[in-house]
Amino acid sequence: MTKTGFPKNFLWGGAVAANQVEGAWNIDGKGLSVADMATYKPNLRLDDYEGHLGVSSDTIEKARKDPSDRIYPKRRGVDFYHRYKEDLALFAEMGFKVLRVSIAWSRIFPTGEEKEPNEKGLQFYENLFTEMKRLNIEPIVTLSHYEMPLELSIKYSGWVERKIIDDFVRFSNVCFHRYKDLVKYWLTFNEIDSINRHPFTTAGIIPDRCPEGKEDEIVYQALHHQFVASALVTADCHRIIEGSQVGCMLTKLTTYPNTCNPEDVELTLKKNLHNYFYSDVQVFGEYPVMIERKFERNNINIKMEPGDREILKNNTVDFVSFSYYMSLTESAKQDMEKAAGNTIMGVKNPYLPATDWGWQIDPVGLKISLIELYDRYKKPLIIVENGMGAFDKVEEDGSIHDDYRIKYFKEHFKQMKEAVEEGVDLFGYTSWGAIDLISAGTSQMSKRYGFIHVDQDDEGNGTLNRSRKDSFYWYKKVIESNGEDLD
Ligand code: BG6
Repeated sequence: MTKTGFPKNFLWGGAVAANQVEGAWNIDGKGLSVADMATYKPNLRLDDYEGHLGVSSDTIEKARKDPSDRIYPKRRGVDFYHRYKEDLALFAEMGFKVLRVSIAWSRIFPTGEEKEPNEKGLQFYENLFTEMKRLNIEPIVTLSHYEMPLELSIKYSGWVERKIIDDFVRFSNVCFHRYKDLVKYWLTFNEIDSINRHPFTTAGIIPDRCPEGKEDEIVYQALHHQFVASALVTADCHRIIEGSQVGCMLTKLTTYPNTCNPEDVELTLKKNLHNYFYSDVQVFGEYPVMIERKFERNNINIKMEPGDREILKNNTVDFVSFSYYMSLTESAKQDMEKAAGNTIMGVKNPYLPATDWGWQIDPVGLKISLIELYDRYKKPLIIVENGMGAFDKVEEDGSIHDDYRIKYFKEHFKQMKEAVEEGVDLFGYTSWGAIDLISAGTSQMSKRYGFIHVDQDDEGNGTLNRSRKDSFYWYKKVIESNGEDLD
């Protein structure tokens, strides 16, 4: 008999990250994190990504001295730190089976190097996970989601120094022991591949401190340290928490050739292989040969310690998680019209509509991504980010008719279902972000992703009151019907 529909215990839910929702950036002992340095960038240009989102030693110094959150919206988030119970109640009302959150490292170890963890930080997450358990919402917890302690970045250039592995393992260890009865699913690094696109946000690397010509080598060295750390904490997690499951997390940047010109096809193949490189290391436990050749050709020398390769090989992940927002198109020709994507640019695809931020909407690309990932890894998959950033209009009566968001999700869910019916082992889906939050790239509040509206503008004005959008009621029906009722 052909199997139809989503598996019976499919984990429907949503995702957020500590630095984009919690706020409370300087209370209860929390230290500064790299996210607290991010400025509001309403007019972010695509090529700013290549300029590392404008981060430099000077901007960091200025931010450190600024005691306010005025131009640093991630410092205020949406006050999830104080309102998590109200937010969880709304998620439970939608029927969430799962919620993806992250732990702000600098809440637990304010500078990253303390001998003892900060009890108030630990208690906050214990309260959060306990409340989730009460509501039958399974947590998926990311250990590193763009929020490493700033001190580690300043003192050691972040992940460039090998000693950060020890700091991270210590932090993770404390979390595993403290939450072992509350959390089963863990992700090590959010979008580990993003180190190449924004090295400061992902790994605390301050671009102007990298010697000229050595930027790539430095980024890949830091990445190697993250790979090793990820493998070590995977082993620890398995040892400390019985039945735990650890996943890697990739930005799935599915890329199409612009034409059938073999040059476009080859370029596209290489782009896709490069995207897979990161999860290949975490799933297969080894560097792909073609990446090692590329390092040799480009004189990129990664310092590995004896035993590193064994650590990678022996501690691979249990499942693969990924974000998917849009697809990309590649052409060997220069001067093609460009389109925006998630911290990356591609050639404009004439077949696809785009969001208010120019990200090209491609539901079929999600099915393609699922099939490719499953075919390659044969590991259970979970989509841990997918959604559309949009300007929402609040009507006089407070309602929000976000039919564009419903349409986006509906089309993506149809494709997910087809992929599952073709045999892909997909065990869950967490939309980004389940509630309006601060954008990672632009720090805008007006780039809204949620089913739940938060009354706050880009400058931080508003009551912070929560309200249900039309998509809230729609998603509730989707979950109730296990993905059958999409109308
Ligand atoms: C993902 C990040 O890359 O994209 C999230 O993991 C982020 O943190 C999401 O919020 C959407 O990007 P943005 O810039 O629209 O917030």
